[in-house]
Amino acid sequence: MKVMTWIIGVFVSMAVSAQTTVTISEPSEKVTISKHIYGHFAEHLGRCIYDGIYVGENSAIPNTDGVRNDIISALKQLDIPNLRWPGGCFADTYHWKDGVGPKKDRPTMVNRWWGGVTEDNSFGTHDFLNLCEQLGAEPYLAANVGSSTVQEFTEYIQYVTHPGKSPMSDWRRENGRDKPWEVSFWGVGNEMWGCGGNMTPEHYADVYRQYATFMTDWSNTDGFFRVASGANVDDYHWTEVMMRDIPKSLIEGVALHSYSFVEWNEKGSAADFDEAQYFSTMQTALKMEELVTKHSAIMDKYDPQNKVALVVDEWGGWYEVEEGTNPGFLYQQNTMRDAMIAGATLNIFNNHAKRVKMANLAQTVNVLQAVILTEGEKMILTPTYHVLKMYKVHQDAILLPVKFESPTYKFNGETLPAVSISASKKESGAVHISLVNIDAQKEHIINLSMEEFGAKKLTGTILTSNNLQDHNTFEAPEKVKIKAFSKMKIKKGQVEISLPPFSVVVLQTE
Ligand code: AHR
Repeated sequence: MKVMTWIIGVFVSMAVSAQTTVTISEPSEKVTISKHIYGHFAEHLGRCIYDGIYVGENSAIPNTDGVRNDIISALKQLDIPNLRWPGGCFADTYHWKDGVGPKKDRPTMVNRWWGGVTEDNSFGTHDFLNLCEQLGAEPYLAANVGSSTVQEFTEYIQYVTHPGKSPMSDWRRENGRDKPWEVSFWGVGNEMWGCGGNMTPEHYADVYRQYATFMTDWSNTDGFFRVASGANVDDYHWTEVMMRDIPKSLIEGVALHSYSFVEWNEKGSAADFDEAQYFSTMQTALKMEELVTKHSAIMDKYDPQNKVALVVDEWGGWYEVEEGTNPGFLYQQNTMRDAMIAGATLNIFNNHAKRVKMANLAQTVNVLQAVILTEGEKMILTPTYHVLKMYKVHQDAILLPVKFESPTYKFNGETLPAVSISASKKESGAVHISLVNIDAQKEHIINLSMEEFGAKKLTGTILTSNNLQDHNTFEAPEKVKIKAFSKMKIKKGQVEISLPPFSVVVLQTE
């Protein structure tokens, strides 16, 4: 294979000698950026499901089987590959049988983790799996282990996936669905070190083995992708135990959860923050690089053939709730800071695509780093939504290795890498390069050699705004939006690209 090398020079504007060479080359090993890295997460939490995605069949808001049409259409435009449901912490309190059958007969339940509200179970398994079909997204069912039984769990699998005659599939038919749904992704509990049961990893590994054994047969002919509840942030011991104690024939993925915040006990406002708070948030966001590197190294030790995936099934920014809203509902605004978290994190996942094969942004609508916010019949798309839309070009493309030393973003005597980059190549040959400049103050200039890789034309889009705190509101829904990127000067096969402060740019070769 012809080795193709692109040289990109990165200069820090106003700095004299801060040039960095960037190389983007043909890979020596073909690694696909799984589309499932671009997954989402919808929990029964606050207004994510009820009064968010689901408004009920009788709502005046246009809907299909109770799910808002505007949300379906917005999510479809992201090509969302998978959707995780029903939790989160909620998952280990959820008894699926309460959410099937005639809605009027369903029992209520108290959502004890999130606001203590009583739910009527009107959004259940059929509603969720039909929604996934409408979206063209694969369902990722996080099933109850913490307060369930192996029997309840295996009956769930039979209800959802069994094509033939059986007690559960017959019940599914009675409830209006003949064909089974296609569900490969199964989470075996959630955060078992905490809300899932406060277990030690050693104990959970045994519990996992028991559940996974009864999910399918000896050879997993059902083709299930079973995900073990994973580590909290840098709990490397957890990953070590999962990889050491669970036979490889019983596991396809190990999860990891890590959120970005100012300080866990002093999260600060989502939209009203200063540069110090921004810097701290980006420190926790960029820690994802170290986390996936170290968790992957442990996985490499036990699984050199790279069969088990690292599944980052909860990530995103977490701040204080908006004033006047239920503290248990985790409703927060979404600014350019969140766009920085999204762009930088997705670059990390892309660059670690060999091990990170799935990830889920928390959460889809009205909760934490949401892509969509709603108020009555109104709906807005957040800066994070726009980043996901720009980055969808990387889904299932071949990863192109990027090597460079980033210029630094300095604040108060501390530093962070300012620029992050990932690149991929589509089957069509089109190359996409996503660049993020998290620097709150400085523009950075990138020099890209076009001659080397024979691109005739380079086009791009950008997401930026005047202030880091800028966000979309129901009154001004398009304050932050994707624009065509024009800050490129082409001279003799070289492109000089200016990355404004706090901006996300995606370039495409033609
Ligand atoms: O996403 C919100 C919560 O964060 C989830 O329910 C839980 O898994 C995590 O702690």
